[in-house]
Amino acid sequence: MLNRPRRLRKNPLVREMVAETRLSKDMFIYPHFVVPGSGVSNPIAAMPGVSHFSIDNLIKDVEAGLKLGLNKIMLFGVGEEKSEDAHTAYADNSLVVNAVKELKKAFADDLYVVTDVCVCSYTTHGHCGILHDDYVQNDQTVEVIAKMALAHANAGADMLAPSDMMDGRIQAIRELLDQNGQVNTAIMSHATKFASSYYGPFREAADCAPGKGDRKAYQMDFRNPTEAIREALLDAEQGADVLMVKPGLAYLDIISKLKQNTNTPVAVYNVSGEYSMVKAAAEKGWIDEQKVVMETMHAFARAGASIITTYHIKDILTKNWM
Ligand code: PBG
Ligand code: ZN
Repeated sequence: MLNRPRRLRKNPLVREMVAETRLSKDMFIYPHFVVPGSGVSNPIAAMPGVSHFSIDNLIKDVEAGLKLGLNKIMLFGVGEEKSEDAHTAYADNSLVVNAVKELKKAFADDLYVVTDVCVCSYTTHGHCGILHDDYVQNDQTVEVIAKMALAHANAGADMLAPSDMMDGRIQAIRELLDQNGQVNTAIMSHATKFASSYYGPFREAADCAPGKGDRKAYQMDFRNPTEAIREALLDAEQGADVLMVKPGLAYLDIISKLKQNTNTPVAVYNVSGEYSMVKAAAEKGWIDEQKVVMETMHAFARAGASIITTYHIKDILTKNWM
C-alpha cells in the first residue's frame, strides 16, 4: 500500500516529530478573584481549586505560581460597594487598582497583569453597564468603562480586558489611555463574547449575576458566526491588540474562522462552566482529568488561539501535565 498514515504513528518518537500543535506555558493566563480584607483565602464552591484571595494572599499565590512559570494573570475585583452608577469600579483606590499596585511593587515586569474591565460586579443590578428603563445604556456605559480602564492602566496594569460588549468601547478606551500618556497599555478585547450559560459558576465567583433579565441585549447570540467576525474586526479597527473568543470549547469554529480573517492575535477564554464540568466529572471518576484537560488545551491551539485563559493552568503546571 502506497499510503499508510499509520507509519507516522508507529511509536512516540515519530509521533512527537510530526505533532502539528505544541503548547507552551507562555501562552497561558490564570484568572484571579481579589476580595477586600486581609488573610482571606476562601475556596469558591462551584469552581474546585479556585479561591477568593485578599491582596496579601493573592501575592503569596502569585509568587508560588511564578516559580512554576505562571507569569500572566487576569484580575477580577469582587466585593466592592455596589451602586447604580458603578462609581467604585473606576475609583483610583479601588481593590483592583490597589492589587495591581501591590503586585507590580512585588514582581515588577516578572509578572504580566491583565485586568478585567467591566462593571457587573460593581452595579446593584448586576448588569455590565448603566441601566435606564431596564436597558443597558451603551454610550453612558462606555464612558464609565473607559474611566475604569484608565484607573487600571495608571495603577500599572499591562493589559486591559474589557468584557462588557458595549459598542465603541475599544476606541473610547484607546483614546482616553493615549490622552493620558498610557500609550503602551495593551487591550485584549472580549471581542466575541456570547450570551452563554457556561458562565454559571463565575457568577458565584464574581457576584455579578443580573438581578433581572439576561445579557442578551449586549452579549452575542450563539447562533451568529458571521456577526462574530464582524464584532471582532470592529474591535481590531478600534485598536484592540488581541481579540478574544469566549467561551472556548463550544466556539472552536469561531476561533478558527477569526484566525483566518485577522492578523491580530486570537485568544480564547476557557470559562468557568467548562472548567467546573471537567472538575465534577473527574471527581466522580468518570473521566481522566489530565487527559481531558490537555486534549482541550490542544484543541484551542489547533483552532488558532495563541493565548489561552484558563483556570486549569495551575493544575497543568503544578502537576506537570504539559
Ligand atoms: C462579566 C464576566 C463574565 C465572565 C467574565 N466576565 C460573566 C458574564 O458575562 O455573565 C465569565 C467568565 C467565566 O465564566 O469564567 N463581565
Ligand atoms: Zn460584566
